[in-house]
Amino acid sequence: MSDRGNFASKIGIILATAGSAVGLGNIWRFPVETGSHGGAAFILIYLACVCILGIPMMTAEFILGRRTHSNIATAYQQLAPRQPWYLTGYAGMLCVTLILSYYSVVAGWTLKYAMSALLTEMSSVTDTEAYFNDFSSSVWAPIAYTVSFLLITHVIIERGIERGIERFSKIMMPLLLLIMVVLVVGALSMPGAKEGLTFLLRPDFSKLSPDVILSALGQAFFSLSLAIGCLSTYASYFKNDVNLSRTALSVVSLDTLVAIMSGFIIFPAVFSVAGVAPDAGPGLVFITLPNIFSTVFASMPMLGYIFSLMFYVLLVLAALTSTISMHEEVTAFIHERYQLSRRRSAGIMTSVCIILGILCCLSYSSLRDFKPFFGMGFFDAFNYLTAKFIMPLSGIVLCLFVGWRMGRRNVREELSNHGALHIPDWMCGTFIFFLRWIAPLSIALIFINELGLF
Ligand code: PHE
Repeated sequence: MSDRGNFASKIGIILATAGSAVGLGNIWRFPVETGSHGGAAFILIYLACVCILGIPMMTAEFILGRRTHSNIATAYQQLAPRQPWYLTGYAGMLCVTLILSYYSVVAGWTLKYAMSALLTEMSSVTDTEAYFNDFSSSVWAPIAYTVSFLLITHVIIERGIERGIERFSKIMMPLLLLIMVVLVVGALSMPGAKEGLTFLLRPDFSKLSPDVILSALGQAFFSLSLAIGCLSTYASYFKNDVNLSRTALSVVSLDTLVAIMSGFIIFPAVFSVAGVAPDAGPGLVFITLPNIFSTVFASMPMLGYIFSLMFYVLLVLAALTSTISMHEEVTAFIHERYQLSRRRSAGIMTSVCIILGILCCLSYSSLRDFKPFFGMGFFDAFNYLTAKFIMPLSGIVLCLFVGWRMGRRNVREELSNHGALHIPDWMCGTFIFFLRWIAPLSIALIFINELGLF
């Protein structure tokens, strides 16, 4: 354990872990989900999901990682030797590899947009839709940006936990929060911002349906990076005096704050120009918003330049702090299991993701008509398989494992840092009850619903 490295400070832990959670899921997906599912009514349900499911499950992942101080596969094996629980660890690693591959494509697009904002290329674009379509359907440019993003991730990972992940998170996360505050203030002072805000915050309970509740659960899951081992890998680098439940609470709060703040940026901005709720999908960030920047700032080009640059840098930072957490999970496994150097282990993961990432890029260009996976290309198939199958199933197993297999005594020891913290009986009991029953049953519900079985 001594040569594994550790996070050196508590603030580093919170920023790195919140970095994993805060990503494109918060800044892009959350506002869209909120807009299409009843505004504040969705936010209330989302908050309930995050509290009921997010905090206990994140704490459970922390328990698994910190208890074993091991990568995800070894963690399951160590606690339940010669039992098949460890297969969930492998499923989690497969899942992050696939997510990292397609996520890097979108992250590459954000890098391209940040570059074109920086080089003022964006301000001269008149047809933002054609601009995006031309770029994403070309062969080489998206590949170059995807590979660059993976290489940046690689460089940070190669430097290790304290000098790589922790140090960069301590720079990137405060910068991200600062940019968000500036953008919120900017968006709220746009003409017509109030309508956007009213739309976002007006609870429309008539839109509530089981489907909305399940969408909120799914969003919470992805946004918090739950269940597939990223968080337990980070927790394996926590020192033994870290208060796990309090850390989970801080990370979940930060993640939710960022999600709500991005609603405060995107809604006022889109409303002030288009007068309607934003549409879903890549269009929002790569077509609608550039249009808005150029319309609103036509008479103030300097301000437009600064705001668009800040927005795309924000997306790059958010994506990067998430991609490093995915990369670390598999790098840690290869490094520990096969006794390879960190550099080589990271190199293997990066190479695999580059190959898969290129296939995902090509799904938008040369391989557009190649749809061998039930009518889906690589990009959509990776997204579908991970979000609809592996994440929920691993989530159920994680809860059952910590709730039933690890048992009350182990869980209590980890939660209380071996007795150093006072954890009341009712708290521990409620936590175990959530893990044994509430969380697995609610996830099973999302799973069945997503499959369209009811
Ligand atoms: N939570 C990240 C986001 O919101 C995505 C992610 C999922 C990161 C799974 C790690 C693991 O974008």
